[in-house]
Amino acid sequence: MSLNEVNEHEVDVLDVDRIKADFPILERKVHGKRLVYLDSGNSSQKPLPVLAAMDHHYREYYANIHRGVYTISEESSAAYQAAHEKVARFLNAPSWREIVFTKNITEAINLVAYTWARANLRAGDAIVLTEMEHHANIVPWHILAAERGVELRWIPLTADYQLDLTDLDRALDGAKLLCVSAASNVLGTLNDIASLSARAHAAGAKVLVDAAQAVPHLPVDVQAWNADFVGFTGHKMLGPTGIGGLWAPEELLEAMPPFLGGGEMIRTVTKEGFTTNELPWKFEAGTMPIVEATGLGAAVDYLEAIGMGAVREHERELTRYALDALTDRFGDRLTIYGPLDVETRGGTISFLFDGIHAHDVSQVLDEDGVCVRAGHHCAKPLMKVLGVPATTRASLYVYNDEADVDALVDSLARAEKFFAI
Ligand SMILES: Cc1ncc(COP(=O)(O)O)c(C=O)c1O
Repeated sequence: MSLNEVNEHEVDVLDVDRIKADFPILERKVHGKRLVYLDSGNSSQKPLPVLAAMDHHYREYYANIHRGVYTISEESSAAYQAAHEKVARFLNAPSWREIVFTKNITEAINLVAYTWARANLRAGDAIVLTEMEHHANIVPWHILAAERGVELRWIPLTADYQLDLTDLDRALDGAKLLCVSAASNVLGTLNDIASLSARAHAAGAKVLVDAAQAVPHLPVDVQAWNADFVGFTGHKMLGPTGIGGLWAPEELLEAMPPFLGGGEMIRTVTKEGFTTNELPWKFEAGTMPIVEATGLGAAVDYLEAIGMGAVREHERELTRYALDALTDRFGDRLTIYGPLDVETRGGTISFLFDGIHAHDVSQVLDEDGVCVRAGHHCAKPLMKVLGVPATTRASLYVYNDEADVDALVDSLARAEKFFAI
């Protein structure tokens, strides 16, 4: 039986062996070695129920949605709407109409930048960002700032890789928007979104949360966060590429101008103009990633079957194990860029050996079948703050276990020895 069929309440601890068996790619060998996948922060692998759900959709009722009055088109449309409903339930959104699908979180953030922000911000207004943002939550604001004369303000970091909120009230004074990631894709730091939302709202600013690294790993409740925009991306949460989304309250989405124009997002079109469709279709122009939505819905089912509390607990324990193993084995020769307290961080672990380039390390690891990411992780302003051009990053997920961490540490020891010669 696949986990997809298991009732959430029957699973109290996360059974990694059973989960691993659902991911065919983990049976692969690379360079004759077992594949040890530690790059889920970049993109996650896909379990059988996700592959099966997409295959089933294509085989049994694939057709374009909302257009045909024939049976399989209606079935395809129903599945597409059901995916919105599953994501809404997963994020505790009050209504599925508040879930807008996009091709990824980058597009979700750009949607906010091109609609709400361009309708509401003008020269002299300010946007507050943090130094730990991904380029997806920086560049759309640079483009707007250059176009409109909007000021960008930055929340700095503390020495232990948390947001330094000492001057937050000053930064928020007169600001229209706070853009913050719920979990850093480099440092692993988890930010207290509910409290940041409260402070931003008290200052009259709206809040956009980049939850790309949070939704796959922690229970997320958009109502408890009380932010205004929350973006997520499907491929990091066991779903396929090509689909992500935005949550925002219905009144806000209703008040925003449309983003992309074309088919599906209209109610009527005349030579004189057009009116927009109801939510969420108003923001879903053209033929959408229909089967990918089905895959995302299956990924949500899979994560719910495990239970997001169990996912978080598993990653907390495994992160503790990994941090201990790295510091025990390499001591001061290896710098970890991120908090060491697992209560305030997720399973994204960035590090550097003294004097060895991040890319060189990852190449040696690849020879051992260990997949990690090396580079600036699309967070160049953060790299500048850290004073390094790049880091090596191992990121943990539901299908990783202590044996994977041991393989990482052994391979790192080999890399250290190799470059010391
Ligand atoms: C924190 C964060 N935000 C945004 C993104 C962008 O995701 P996507 O490429 O799916 O739009 C990523 C992906 O690495 C990320 O880690």
